[in-house]
Amino acid sequence: MKFDIVTIFPRMVEAGLAEGVVSRGIERGLLDIQVHDLRHYTTDRHRSVDDVPYGGGPGMVMKPEPLARAVADLRARRGDPAAVILLSPQGRLFTQAEAVRMSALPHLVLLCGRYEGMDERVRTVVATDELSIGDYVLSGGELAALVVVDAVGRLVPGVVGDARSVDEDSFSRGRLDHPHYTRPSEFAGEAVPEVLLSGHHEAVRRWRKMAALQRTMHRRPELLDTAALDDEERGMLDEIRKEQEREP
Ligand code: ADE
Repeated sequence: MKFDIVTIFPRMVEAGLAEGVVSRGIERGLLDIQVHDLRHYTTDRHRSVDDVPYGGGPGMVMKPEPLARAVADLRARRGDPAAVILLSPQGRLFTQAEAVRMSALPHLVLLCGRYEGMDERVRTVVATDELSIGDYVLSGGELAALVVVDAVGRLVPGVVGDARSVDEDSFSRGRLDHPHYTRPSEFAGEAVPEVLLSGHHEAVRRWRKMAALQRTMHRRPELLDTAALDDEERGMLDEIRKEQEREP
């Protein structure tokens, strides 16, 4: 899968790609990720990427032409992307479902915004999508682009060594993950649940499913409204709810 990331801080993005699962995906040739310096697409002596806002007010606004030139150049050199995504707090919320959908696409261009704002014509003319990674304001889209590349890249087949760990992730089926334990069997007075030491695979499977549902119910109950639950999970959920009603 191909990613092109356009930014005024290429070193910041490159540092984020240099380690971990994504860097292994690059080494194995499964992810082709290029980082492009937006200033390369400026034409004036000062290499300006921003200007004062029409109508006045504080801060600077990112100019549309360098971004438009960057995307045109990438289309010519790297091929037409499936989407040109502007990262901004005004975008649609990036979720695991969105990551899954995007991981099936062959090529994405990510545009990182900086300064107080982006000329609106970047949205209407240059980008095809706009994504936010959450309801908070970052000082730029670079970290958001790294979040998207990581969440999408690890879903590309072969990038994560054992595909089962991707299937069992939190959110992969619309609910949180179950607790995990390794040795020692007792730590700081806390013992590993007995069933996990039992070697009884069917009991372990049921315990994990139940624990995942209980955790989701406690921490993120709204996820259960849209989670794709199977019959067994629906039965477990009824059990948990009845249990809760019995408790004061
Ligand atoms: N740029 C600044 N804040 C952002 C956010 N929350 N998501 C994506 N891009 C951003």
